[in-house]
Amino acid sequence: MGSRQFQLIVLCFAVLGIFAVCQGFVVGEDVDRTSYLVVNASDGSGWRAPDTLFGLFFEEINHAGAGGLWAELVSNRGFEAGGPNTPSNIDPWSIIGDESSIIVSTDRSSCFERNKIALKMEVLCSSDGSNTCPTGGVGIYNPGYWGMNIEQGKTYKVVLHVKSLESFEFFVSLASSDGSSILATTNIIGAAPDFSNWRKVEVLLEAKGTDHNGRLQLTRTSKGVMWFDQVSAIPTDTYKGHGFRKGLTEMLASLKPRFIRFPGGCFVEGEWLRNAFRWKETIGPWEDRPGHFGDVWKYWTDDGLGYFEFLQLAEDLGALPVWVFNNGISHNDQVATSTVLPFLQELLDSIEFARGDADSTWGSVRAAMGHPKPFDLKYVALGNEDCGKKNYRGNYLKFYYVLKTAYPDIKIISNCDGSYRQLDHPADLYDFHVYTSASNMFSMSHKFDGTLRSGPKAFVSEYAVTGKDAGTGSFIAALAEAGFLIGLERNSDVIEMASYAPLFVNANDRRWNPDAIVFDSWRHYGTPSYWMQQFFSESSGATVLNINLKGNSLTSLVASAITWKDGDNNYLRIKIVNFGSNSVSLNISVEGLAPNSVDFTRSKKTVFTSKDLMGENSFEEPNKVVPVESLFSEAGTDMDVLLAPHSLTSLDLLRQSNNPEIINVALLKTGCTHLLSNLDENKLCNTPTCKYFFWNVK
Ligand code: AHR
Repeated sequence: MGSRQFQLIVLCFAVLGIFAVCQGFVVGEDVDRTSYLVVNASDGSGWRAPDTLFGLFFEEINHAGAGGLWAELVSNRGFEAGGPNTPSNIDPWSIIGDESSIIVSTDRSSCFERNKIALKMEVLCSSDGSNTCPTGGVGIYNPGYWGMNIEQGKTYKVVLHVKSLESFEFFVSLASSDGSSILATTNIIGAAPDFSNWRKVEVLLEAKGTDHNGRLQLTRTSKGVMWFDQVSAIPTDTYKGHGFRKGLTEMLASLKPRFIRFPGGCFVEGEWLRNAFRWKETIGPWEDRPGHFGDVWKYWTDDGLGYFEFLQLAEDLGALPVWVFNNGISHNDQVATSTVLPFLQELLDSIEFARGDADSTWGSVRAAMGHPKPFDLKYVALGNEDCGKKNYRGNYLKFYYVLKTAYPDIKIISNCDGSYRQLDHPADLYDFHVYTSASNMFSMSHKFDGTLRSGPKAFVSEYAVTGKDAGTGSFIAALAEAGFLIGLERNSDVIEMASYAPLFVNANDRRWNPDAIVFDSWRHYGTPSYWMQQFFSESSGATVLNINLKGNSLTSLVASAITWKDGDNNYLRIKIVNFGSNSVSLNISVEGLAPNSVDFTRSKKTVFTSKDLMGENSFEEPNKVVPVESLFSEAGTDMDVLLAPHSLTSLDLLRQSNNPEIINVALLKTGCTHLLSNLDENKLCNTPTCKYFFWNVK
């Protein structure tokens, strides 16, 4: 850039600066007088935050997966939820018809060895004669998870397994919630010998109407006996075609997560080990998966979202998987260290499944599932919140040494808190969970300031404001969490990862409150805590700058500054949380940048605030409490910013490029009608800014 161009830009800044001051903020009585933030943006200053800094924690809680992220519409698809003994409960399946027209029962005739229960349907009515079937026939229906989202024009793949000793015709339909309207249907005709053994039937149904609380029906209008098992219905339009509900997964992707911890939480432990998550029962063809009852969050999962799918999800999101493994400890029972080896073998097998060659024992199972390439598994957590338990340390050490020898590159995460003391066992990371009030959470922005700089790094794998401050996802909770995350960012020399918890809640089954994303069968929205995380989506792998915050509002202010590159663009982001109830006038000076090096035409300011501190989003008002973005024409190396009471402000400064087009945009912004290459006194527009600009350059 030539010196003339520099002058032009400097002048633009000067003039806009004068305007800004003239039109500037009214400083009311409730404004705390100026605080100062000095950001050192000199080349080579600051440090690189871990590439993994911010990510996700997915737990199968609140029907987050079954009836949520996993797009399967049928609940209890194999009729196993009622247990292995017959007769069993087939809930939520129900009957269409009455006792005079249909009898259903369960038996153990399934062709799937790991889940023997099948449904026997005996239709007593027929198309004519004394016991005529009602119009539309009789049969069974499944309402899914609080209603199936059937949308006009969308296609659904229905797969089911059928057995019959006689010829038959039955109908597979998607229907409205009460069955009164058929949204899509097809008939299946079978000749007697063809279905005397179980056969798989697959159909594609295109919906001709919409019902967000629809259902799947299997009906017939003629007398006869038949069996059904393993019935699935899934929209064909899922995230990357891998079975994840699209809108929900896009919400995750937009946070740019660098890791995903799964599948729990307490879900991994179980109240009792017999009900804990067992990965081997969640892989392979879905029909072969027995499903299980998660006794902590108290619901059945068909385990369509299994270990393989979690690894796939991580890959699809460009995030590293963090595999939380049960090392022989549940909430109520524990395996002694002397007998824990089978659990260790399970872990080793799971790693071979994820990373082994396609011809290894478990790698070949993965390859058969359609992923010959190994997954990028590098993090394993041993247990969840189990540190104080009798056998934890012994089991942990046994696992640690075997795992380190077999896979030296895998980072092992301990459940014991190393933030305030040295751990008494080796670990690459230690897990840290915090659920607390808003004021505590905000003050925890300094929690890691005093942590030992050597030793294992922290994985803050669960954090959230809970209790009365949180409502069902309040603004004040999110603001306090933002303060906490700013603290993590500034301590990212000792923090390797952080994730909010829990991620999802199906509004029909709130087991834990609050959560980041709320959904039902067809809608979803982010709570303020979700939107708050957007402010940190560029922080992983960014350069964290040294800052100095001075002034008289320090107990209610926290700030951080990062730089990152996106293609040819260099950004500087300054984030400030004002947790106080007064506005704060903040003077920000950025050292180490030339005064004209900020492109104020493309810099932006994002403010997140709410008049009502307990403000929440909802299905009706999903964007009531969301960040508001605007152009930030005051952007420069010396800026005065008025921080609203209780607000999170992010200033994204685009570092100036030498591109003349960018300078031209700046010229146009000052009111000039001609561009750099064509400055002509006679043709210039008449604005004072432009005249001033022109004559000074001349
Ligand atoms: O995030 C909800 C629960 O909180 C997790 O399952 C558990 O780890 C923690 O106690």
